Amino acid sequence: MAERIKVLIHAIKDQALNIKTYELVSPDGEPLPLFTPGAHIDFFLPDNLIRQYSLSNSADERNRYVVGIQKEEQGRGGSCLIHDQFKIGDEIEISAPRNNFKLDETAQRYKLIAGGIGITPIMSMARRLKSIGKPFQLYYACRNEQRAAFIEELRSTELSKHVVLSYDDVHGPLNTLALFGRPEPNVQIYCCGPTGLMDAVKSATNPWSEGSVRFEHFSVSEDIGPKDDDGSFEVIIQSTGRVLKIPKDKSILSVLEENGIFIDHACCEGICGTCETGLIDGEADHRDMILTEAEKQENKQIMVCCSRAKTSTLTLDL
Ligand code: FES
Repeated sequence: MAERIKVLIHAIKDQALNIKTYELVSPDGEPLPLFTPGAHIDFFLPDNLIRQYSLSNSADERNRYVVGIQKEEQGRGGSCLIHDQFKIGDEIEISAPRNNFKLDETAQRYKLIAGGIGITPIMSMARRLKSIGKPFQLYYACRNEQRAAFIEELRSTELSKHVVLSYDDVHGPLNTLALFGRPEPNVQIYCCGPTGLMDAVKSATNPWSEGSVRFEHFSVSEDIGPKDDDGSFEVIIQSTGRVLKIPKDKSILSVLEENGIFIDHACCEGICGTCETGLIDGEADHRDMILTEAEKQENKQIMVCCSRAKTSTLTLDL
C-alpha cells in the first residue's frame, strides 16, 4: 500500500452547503511533499476506507494541503465520517499527492470548467495560471449560490475578472455547446464536475483535438463496472511465468492478492490511478477513467482493480 503521512487538521472552514475545506499541516512543521495543480491525496480512514480528495491550494505552498470535501449523504460513508467526526487538532493519515489531471503549462490560453465540488482541483489550477500570467477563464456551474464553494475568492479582485458563475436556478444549465463547441488553437480545456456536466462538455468539445480537453472524474460512470457478459481469462506474471485464472466475478487485483502479489491500490473503481500496472502482451478491456483514449489504444498500462481482458490472456509487467 502507498506510504502514509501523518498530518494535523489545522483548520476547518464551511465553504458552501455541505462543503467544507480541511487544512492539513505536518505535526513537526516540516515541509509537506511537493504537489502540482490538479493533484489529489488519499485519506486513510477507519475500517480501511480510503478516499481521494483534490488539493485546492497553491502548489507553491509547502506548509499545508487544503482539500475541499462535500458531504455525500447517499455516498459510501467516507465524506459523512469526515464531516461528522473530524475536528481541528486531530491527527490523520494521508498519502503523498498524486496527479492524474496535470496542467500542461505550454498552452497560450485556458478554459477551466467546474461543477459543484469539482471546483477543488480547478482552484489550484487557477492559482497557478494566475501566478505564471497565463490568460484563463473559469466557468463555475452550481445548482444554486448556496452550493458554490470558494465564492469569496472567486469574487475577489484577484480572480473575479477570470470567473463566470452560473447558477442553474438563475441562469439554467451551462450552455456548453455555445461556450466550448468551437475548437480554438493553443487553448486547453480542463473540466471537473458531476457526470452530467462532464458528459455535456465531452459532447460539446467533440471537435477539439483529444489532448486539448482533459477531465477529472471523482465518481464512477455506470458503464465501467462489472457487466453481465464478463468472462474469465488468464494473466501471466512476466517475471515468473506464473499463470493465474481470473474468474468472471473477480478482479485481477483481488486474484493477485489471493496469490500473494500485492499491488498498491486505493479507490478500486478506476478513478485514482494507484493500481496502474504495465501490460506486456494481450489486449485489455479498459474500464478505468484515468487513461486517455490514446493510452487505452496503446495497451501499455492497465488498471488492475477494474479492467479486464479482450484476449484470453494478459501478460503483466510484474
Ligand atoms: S485502485 Fe484506483 S484506479 Fe485502481
